[in-house]
Amino acid sequence: MGNRVIIQKLADKCVANNRISPSLYQTYNVKRGLRNEDGSGVLVGLTEISTVIGFEKRDEDIHPVEGQLEYRGVNIKDIVNGLTTEDRFGFEEVAYLLLFGELPTKSELKEFGKYFAHERHLPGNFVRDIILTFRTPDVMNSLARSVLALYSVDENPDDTSLPNLVRQAISLIAKFPVITAYAYHARQHKFIGESLFIHQPLDELSTAENFLHMLRPDGKFTKLEAQVLDIMLILHADHGGGNNSTFTTRVVSSSGTDTYSAISAAIGSLKGPLHGGANKSVMSMMEDMKNNVHPWNNKAKLKDHLVKIIKGEAADKSGKVYGFGHAVYTRSDPRAILLKEFAIKLAKQKKREKELVLYLAMEELVPEVFGEIKGSKKVISPNVDFFSGFVYDCLGIPTEVYTPLFAVARIAGWMAHRIEELMVSPRIIRPAYKNVTVHREYVSLSSRKRGQVSAKIEAKKDIKKV
Ligand code: MLT
Repeated sequence: MGNRVIIQKLADKCVANNRISPSLYQTYNVKRGLRNEDGSGVLVGLTEISTVIGFEKRDEDIHPVEGQLEYRGVNIKDIVNGLTTEDRFGFEEVAYLLLFGELPTKSELKEFGKYFAHERHLPGNFVRDIILTFRTPDVMNSLARSVLALYSVDENPDDTSLPNLVRQAISLIAKFPVITAYAYHARQHKFIGESLFIHQPLDELSTAENFLHMLRPDGKFTKLEAQVLDIMLILHADHGGGNNSTFTTRVVSSSGTDTYSAISAAIGSLKGPLHGGANKSVMSMMEDMKNNVHPWNNKAKLKDHLVKIIKGEAADKSGKVYGFGHAVYTRSDPRAILLKEFAIKLAKQKKREKELVLYLAMEELVPEVFGEIKGSKKVISPNVDFFSGFVYDCLGIPTEVYTPLFAVARIAGWMAHRIEELMVSPRIIRPAYKNVTVHREYVSLSSRKRGQVSAKIEAKKDIKKV
């Protein structure tokens, strides 16, 4: 029997033996996906790091409201407006705010910036031994592997005392953009046959500027490009304790393990298409739109194609409209509103207004068509992923680094939550699973007959149907 046949036979057993009737979840009041029946998240913790408001609960009902996001109590809109007015880069300052709970003064920011710049530099031979060996087409995989490798060059990797956590946090936030840019070039060199570019980070540049400098073969970028990337990083830096990767960080951290183990797990979570990988799916869906709807400003044709997408007849045929709806936000995702402003500015500068028209039409049509087809009154709006792919594309940033750039930003939030988890929560996170199988007697190997075992499986299936 070939390996494929063996594997298929074993996979069939998984199908036969992993059937839990959906009704049992109701019987035992299981909060699937840690969600309440109305779709809101089950309350599992308290945090002071960020506030995500997307609805109001009144009389046990969900009432849609405009979305709000605050970092340590400061509205994200005010942070972005402040930085734009003061014409400054702000990702480092936002990381400081998330980690240490307050905006830095001028001198604190200067001192932090100097230390941060120093921490960008990777240990000797790290690029050769870790990033350029065992190259993978997936930059998230490279990033996770590099994080685990950093454990072995840390002289004090397992120490969970506060000063050590702070040191590790700054080191990882500073190094993530460098690893991402190099891992991307390593990928392009090995799998696409491009030249290998390893530009050293420059101490005088901000995180956003440095990333563009390291990513682009000529190291050049415009001020607007760096400013927009800085805003992207700020908007993705944190999103409460409940998003999948941050919750992963908190769950893994609660076992008392080291920073590198917790963060590599968070990277694994963010890589998933239902989490950080969603902006890539938006781009594929929009590509399908661009190829099938002509001209792009014809709303009737656009609507027809959208109907096909929702009915599972077009794009990836999943019936999903990527970039719309959110676990918390209803009427609006504040990050999408801010991003839209920058998408408009960039589209003008890059002469991509025609494409932007398509995005703006989708923004208007999706909630309406979704309601019509699904017969649902659920309020949905574009989320942060809807405009982020377009913005990255305008910046000439390749799809392969969209999700890694999310990690470059979110590492700030992950480390802030890891510190908070270890400081305020003394217990390992340990929820419960109810076993719903039937008891079976052990049968010795010589007495096992397939029919006999199957009979037990049938019995089990009947019980699950109850
Ligand atoms: C995030 O920023 O993490 C995403 O919007 C997903 C979430 O909040 O659940």
